[in-house]
Amino acid sequence: MTAQSVGSAAVHSIDHFALNVPSLEQAEHFYENFGLTVTRHDGELHLHAADNHRWGRLLASDHKSLAYLSFACHKGELETIRAQAQAAGADFNRDSSLKTGEGIWFHDPDGNLIQVKEGARTMPTSKTPFHVPVAQENQRGAYSRSEGGRVQPRRLSHVLLFTPDVLRATAFYDKALGLRLSDKSQDIIAFTHAPHGCDHHILAFAKSPAKGFHHCSWDVATLDDVGRGADQMGAAGYKKGWGVGRHVLGSNYFHYVQDPWGSFSEYSADIDYVAAGTQWEAGEYPPEDSMYLWGPDVPDYFIVNTETPAEETQA
Ligand SMILES: [Fe+2]
Repeated sequence: MTAQSVGSAAVHSIDHFALNVPSLEQAEHFYENFGLTVTRHDGELHLHAADNHRWGRLLASDHKSLAYLSFACHKGELETIRAQAQAAGADFNRDSSLKTGEGIWFHDPDGNLIQVKEGARTMPTSKTPFHVPVAQENQRGAYSRSEGGRVQPRRLSHVLLFTPDVLRATAFYDKALGLRLSDKSQDIIAFTHAPHGCDHHILAFAKSPAKGFHHCSWDVATLDDVGRGADQMGAAGYKKGWGVGRHVLGSNYFHYVQDPWGSFSEYSADIDYVAAGTQWEAGEYPPEDSMYLWGPDVPDYFIVNTETPAEETQA
């Protein structure tokens, strides 16, 4: 143990996520068209954004699911986090072939495999710049499609998981990893941030009969890039999704693109930022008034957990 008392340490970043996917070829096509750099390594794919960090590992499997989620903490805090996770009820004993000797590994109350390791910050230390180009008189505001170039996300923003118990999940991650509640809507959806400064949410939870991976979200620089990203994916054959719109909780402009396995990748711009040392007042919002400020109707396939056994799948 360090000099810190139990309950005083927190992760500062998502280092990366790992997904099981039924087809690496399909995954490569989807994420490359999304604007990420996809590289092959010993039978798996790695996802990089413009910042060059390895944000994702895609592992060959017979089904899509979260393989694990990896967080980073400051040097010297790992043993405190281990104690916090144990006190919160983390399962350190369950076997997994994915566990390595780096950092600590445990299963959360839903059975998600979690790694925490000492590592560099991957989350920004201040609000990421958002560009709103404003045309002056006698100036063209837009540009031609061919001048736009390929939309390339700058970095990962967050991951949203399905859980059978949103309040249990937020309580666990608060106690184990120090993730604080940003905002929530009843026991239906909740968003959490790290106290070291990060986006409004790096990890969020939505209610479902089973655990599952709903979406990964990627920061882009402009509202144009959100819309152009949607076009980029539509041209590649990925026309199902939700957006363009603006969220209430997190405030980001969004467009979600459905991946080949029914989960989503989100283009996100101008998400709220909770600065280090700030006491963000968590809000309680009615569901009908919090999902989006504006945008198209939510498609019926958007809030569907494709990892739920068929007989339990929600419409
Ligand atoms: Fe999101």
